[in-house]
Amino acid sequence: MLRQSRKMAHLRHAQTQPDGPCQTGFQDVHLLHNCLPGIGMADVSLKTAVAGLALPHPLIINAITGGAPDVAQTNRALAQVAKAAGCAMAVGSQYASLEDKSVRHTFSCVREEYPDGVLFANLGAHVSLDEAQEAVEMLEAQALQIHLNVGQELVMQEGDRDFAGYLDRIASLVRHLSVPVIVKETGCGMGAEQVRRLAEAGVAAIDVGGAGGTNFLAIEAARSGQMLASELMAWGIPTAISTVEAKAVLPPAVSLIASGGLRTASDMVKSLALGAHAVAVAGPVVQRLAVSAEQAVQWLAALRYEIQQLMVLCGAENLAALHAAPLVITGQTAEWLRARGLYPDSRSAVKQS
Ligand SMILES: Cc1cc2nc3c(=O)[nH]c(=O)nc-3n(C[C@H](O)[C@H](O)[C@H](O)COP(=O)(O)O)c2cc1C
Repeated sequence: MLRQSRKMAHLRHAQTQPDGPCQTGFQDVHLLHNCLPGIGMADVSLKTAVAGLALPHPLIINAITGGAPDVAQTNRALAQVAKAAGCAMAVGSQYASLEDKSVRHTFSCVREEYPDGVLFANLGAHVSLDEAQEAVEMLEAQALQIHLNVGQELVMQEGDRDFAGYLDRIASLVRHLSVPVIVKETGCGMGAEQVRRLAEAGVAAIDVGGAGGTNFLAIEAARSGQMLASELMAWGIPTAISTVEAKAVLPPAVSLIASGGLRTASDMVKSLALGAHAVAVAGPVVQRLAVSAEQAVQWLAALRYEIQQLMVLCGAENLAALHAAPLVITGQTAEWLRARGLYPDSRSAVKQS
């Protein structure tokens, strides 16, 4: 089946396609060193919450796979990694399992491996309420991610060509589904205008899925042997910018997840300082898991420690303090944000205390 062989191809190409070529923008975001932090490593709390769900730390393993017999083992291993690292985890799109019940176990195995984990179901924005509820129940998920991937679909030869009605369906899911709805992009980012409309539709969280990391337009082009125009290769809103765009319009009750090309603890702390409540990664986990589950767990544990170190260096004992920490944005990212009326803000001014 086409959908099933696609899952394998995505995992394969995610290991060979480079990030970008669009840059995430984090090179333009600068945290300020605090030489008098007044705290130590033991004082730092990484606790956070997304969509009303308490998390011990902000690292999430984002949607990757499921839906083909050959990827069941990968999903099981991902769940073991998530459990060992204490991460919330999203599964890949469950649509295949709504069409073909024989692959449901490739998703439900994640709950078997991680019985007390925070798990997110995942579907596209074209699904019905019944389909969404079925996906949630299959995983006993605490939330549903709805992925937006217009760029990928347009490049995918067998992809969708009609994207009408998404917002109305999302609003209806928000009203009737038994769990909170998270809307995520998959590498092209979100602008403030769309984030505002999603917040008005009542979503519990936004995952900006910005540009600069795993590039699904490039993956689809590689999968079908197409040459993509350079503008399309670099299409999307860089992750750092998308995070600021989203934060500027989100009401405090809606959680913000930064993702798309987050590769270092520094990228993650910058995301959190820009206002994110959590950070999510996909491509690097696939790459490390291809070596061993142990590598993936160690990478996540090291990130967690380095995030804590960087928070001490910023004098931030928790995420609320990091949200208020001063930062400077330079270069193209500042230029973009200035043009959009989003920078400078009070946090880039010298504090009077
Ligand atoms: C192999 C692979 C498969 C993916 N499949 C899905 C999917 O089914 N649904 C989804 O919402 N996102 C999917 N994604 C996108 C990721 O969740 C994430 O948004 C994107 O890869 C950007 O993050 P990254 O740069 O850390 O990889 C997939 C990513 C990878 C690497």
